[in-house]
Amino acid sequence: MISIIVAVSEDWGIGKDNKLLWHISEDLKRFKRLTFGNTVIMGKRTWESLPRRPLPGRRNIVLTDDKTENIENAVTAYSIEDSLSKCEKNEEIFIMGGGSIYRQFMPFADRLYITHVHKKAPADIYFPEIDLKIWKITEKEVFKTDGEESIPYTYTIYEKKE
Ligand SMILES: NC(=O)c1ccc[n+]([C@@H]2O[C@H](COP(=O)([O-])OP(=O)(O)OC[C@H]3O[C@@H](n4cnc5c(N)ncnc54)[C@H](OP(=O)(O)O)[C@@H]3O)[C@@H](O)[C@H]2O)c1
Repeated sequence: MISIIVAVSEDWGIGKDNKLLWHISEDLKRFKRLTFGNTVIMGKRTWESLPRRPLPGRRNIVLTDDKTENIENAVTAYSIEDSLSKCEKNEEIFIMGGGSIYRQFMPFADRLYITHVHKKAPADIYFPEIDLKIWKITEKEVFKTDGEESIPYTYTIYEKKE
């Protein structure tokens, strides 16, 4: 099972200057709950953007094209196929970004965990379009963050149609 997990703005932005576009602590806690004990796959720029690495309690696989690189405290992979060959059979694998990695994994994904953040935000990295001929929504839950900004967001799960 290959799952993509992402938070997107109203216009599908996901990051700017190698940072996230917001801080929604409930969403980050949910990300941890879902991914804990599993494998996460990410691109080198997302790895570099993490405040703490590796993500604890998860096998961290990091993609780089640089064959001479061996990333400390993570499993290094040099292609999409190589990253998948380093996963266990029958586990849920979480693709956690960034933009280039999401785009390349879309054809292989079975499930998308998308947090739709109901806010426009300037971005330089975007999530690829979701084709509703291929994907169907199976779950939707609407929330609002506490605190000053009070950003509304919706957890949406998409599954690939049969
Ligand atoms: N909103 C969200 O949920 C979310 C989640 C994650 C990330 N983000 C954001 O996304 C942005 C980063 O995304 P990005 O697209 O710039 O970078 P990225 O996808 O994280 O990393 C790109 C790098 O991954 C490596 N790579 C990509 N495809 C590869 C392949 N097929 N084989 C081997 N290596 C490969 C390359 O590393 P080398 O250059 O070393 O070869 C490439 O430069 C940041 O702003 C981050 O905050 C947002």
